[in-house]
Amino acid sequence: MFLHPRLESVRGSFDRAPLHADDALDAELLVDVAREVAGLEALWRPVLRHNPDARFYERLLLTGSIEVWLLGWAPGQGVRIHDHGGAWGAFTVVEGALLEAAEGVRTTHRAGSATWFGPRWTHSVANASRNPSPGGAIATSIHAYSPPSLPLRFHGHTVNQLLAQARSRLVRLGPTEAAEAVAAGALLVDIRPAAQRRAEGEIPGALVIERNVLEWRLDPASDARIPEADGYDRQVIVMCSEGYTSSLAAASLNDLGLYRATDLAGGFKAWEAAGLPTNRGEPTPVV
Ligand SMILES: [Fe+2]
Repeated sequence: MFLHPRLESVRGSFDRAPLHADDALDAELLVDVAREVAGLEALWRPVLRHNPDARFYERLLLTGSIEVWLLGWAPGQGVRIHDHGGAWGAFTVVEGALLEAAEGVRTTHRAGSATWFGPRWTHSVANASRNPSPGGAIATSIHAYSPPSLPLRFHGHTVNQLLAQARSRLVRLGPTEAAEAVAAGALLVDIRPAAQRRAEGEIPGALVIERNVLEWRLDPASDARIPEADGYDRQVIVMCSEGYTSSLAAASLNDLGLYRATDLAGGFKAWEAAGLPTNRGEPTPVV
């Protein structure tokens, strides 16, 4: 059992029964612990250091069943969306206010309030005061978790993860395969911006639909669709300069229901390197 030295005198207050994620947890117990520690201000206040450069946190208590943290939030500071590794949690705000976003709902927790959440809860939390110092107010909160020592897990993906996910869903085509598919009726869609098309050249016969309107032009259910986007069976081959953003775009078309959408591996540069026909000159108008 770890107790912050300043809480050593109240060790007996935290002799609680173990809690586990698969138990029917009395979550109010975690709220009680958070409130109990919050009430011991003379003990935690000297530890607290709000830092405008990095969010302050210090563990005050760790037992076999519960851990308790002291968090300091300078104005503008927050934690992006995360879960607590399957732990139950509770927190109470002791000064300032925190803005919690979870399941599409934003809740402001003001000083004196407390809340709890279950093991599958996913949220972001930030100081409700977004003004940077010195205009904004600091916030301070006490958090209790059970079981203890489970990792904070951040949600969201890096762009490389997004790319890998996208490509795992695509049957990508090399230049020759793409040319054969186009000959058989596939739509080759160039999503590069005009400046890039002017600099690199173009592929004769490709439809030019810039990335910002791609989904609206190709969704068969969209009022802004092009005539060629006439059904979900249509094979669309997205291409860009080197075949990176085209993978993300093709995955987005998959999401629209265009299940045959894919992209040109290596992009325009691979097409050109394969000796397939290209055009130079003024960029083709977008559709
Ligand atoms: Fe959290």
